[in-house]
Amino acid sequence: MNTLYVTGGSRLEGTITASGSKNGTLAIMAAALLAKGRTVLTNIPRIGDIYTMVDMLRALGAQCEINGSNTVAIDASELTSAEAPYDLVKRMRASFTVLGPLLARKGYAKVAMPGGCDIGARPIDFHVKGIQALGAYVNTEHGFVEAEADQLIGAEVYLDFPSAGATQHIMTAACLARGVTTIQNAAMEPEIVDLADYLTAMGARIDGAGTPTIRVEGVEELRAVEHEVIPDRMEVGTYAVAAAITQGDVRIERVAPKHLEPFLSKLRDTGAVISVDDSTLRIRANSRPVATDIVTMPHPGFPTDMQQPFVAMLSIAEGTSVVTENVYERRFRYISELQRMGADIKQDGRSAVVKGVERLSGAPVTATDLRAGAALVVAALAAEGKSEIIGIEHVDRGYECLEEKLTLLGAKVGRVDHERKGITLCLA
Ligand code: UD1
Repeated sequence: MNTLYVTGGSRLEGTITASGSKNGTLAIMAAALLAKGRTVLTNIPRIGDIYTMVDMLRALGAQCEINGSNTVAIDASELTSAEAPYDLVKRMRASFTVLGPLLARKGYAKVAMPGGCDIGARPIDFHVKGIQALGAYVNTEHGFVEAEADQLIGAEVYLDFPSAGATQHIMTAACLARGVTTIQNAAMEPEIVDLADYLTAMGARIDGAGTPTIRVEGVEELRAVEHEVIPDRMEVGTYAVAAAITQGDVRIERVAPKHLEPFLSKLRDTGAVISVDDSTLRIRANSRPVATDIVTMPHPGFPTDMQQPFVAMLSIAEGTSVVTENVYERRFRYISELQRMGADIKQDGRSAVVKGVERLSGAPVTATDLRAGAALVVAALAAEGKSEIIGIEHVDRGYECLEEKLTLLGAKVGRVDHERKGITLCLA
């Protein structure tokens, strides 16, 4: 386990650049399996989850190289295996979505059931139902999903909940199906629109991405293309909260402000001053945040991924906030860690009542998942004294150059890599 040390109290100031979207890149990398030839994706983040997807694509026989300039080249002309191994799928849930493209290309796929961040039950029933609706025979046994279909056939698919992953997965599989697929109650996240843009550039026929009804008309084949991934709205949101909680003044470049509207609207409610200029965001705050209630919802609601860092900020707000988590029932597991830092939060089922305290105090805490870890980092930046965040590798799954960006903004952070026993940055 790696540990991040943070000495809180520095006002964050300066300019950083947003990285490319983790969730967007993962979906597009899986979809790249649909085409023969060389796919080039630019603006990808160099983070743990992307390296896991690289390993997955290689395990299937695709050639896959990341270079130093945030670009990944994928050549899936030859797929030598149709089996996605358990040791990779358990590392990251999103790697399960290679099932659809593999099936479409090879007529057969065997993919281990997923793992990933422990934030509650994360079933795969929508994915499986979607693939079955497209005519595949699916067998789920011994921890694997095995699917077979000589030819996928377009169908009507209704999702019980607008699942981002299932929408992307079914949309991807449907591109090479015969006939028309309609996905009802589809997720509307910006990453879905980006995936549709990418698939369309490859020759797919997709309408309605970004709305609750997506129509995919199958085509014979897709060509490999070059595509620039959208900025990571979760990373941007986390640094925006870090700016507000430290009463700082931070500019973030290369963002897509439109993707952040649901989140920015709530950040404004806390008193932060936000200016948007084309692709730059500036967040300023000069007093304690003001309490506000939040309710997480699928896009365009308040994003569940931002709930945890936002609660870290609300924990020092003036007043009491009520936070309701509607997407993942266990996304409150970090609360006990925030309490160790002095936060006054009471959880009642899917809601948490956050009574703002004047200040948090630095403490040793443990990150249990990606966004929980991000919340602890945000809290530590504002806390009095030193915090030790154990399990920072969870955060590395989603945040590129975390210490470098924080240091650039004036935060006092450092890391100990316990495996190498090395201190890799300015230990605060
Ligand atoms: C994606 C994001 C994740 C984000 C989440 C919700 C990636 C890699 N991850 O995860 O960061 O927090 O969207 O915005 O893109 N569900 C089912 N059955 C299914 C699939 C989902 O019941 O087959 C439920 C889930 O348990 C959850 C809800 O649907 O309660 C939404 O999950 P989903 O949108 O699918 O999340 P992911 O795509 O896994």
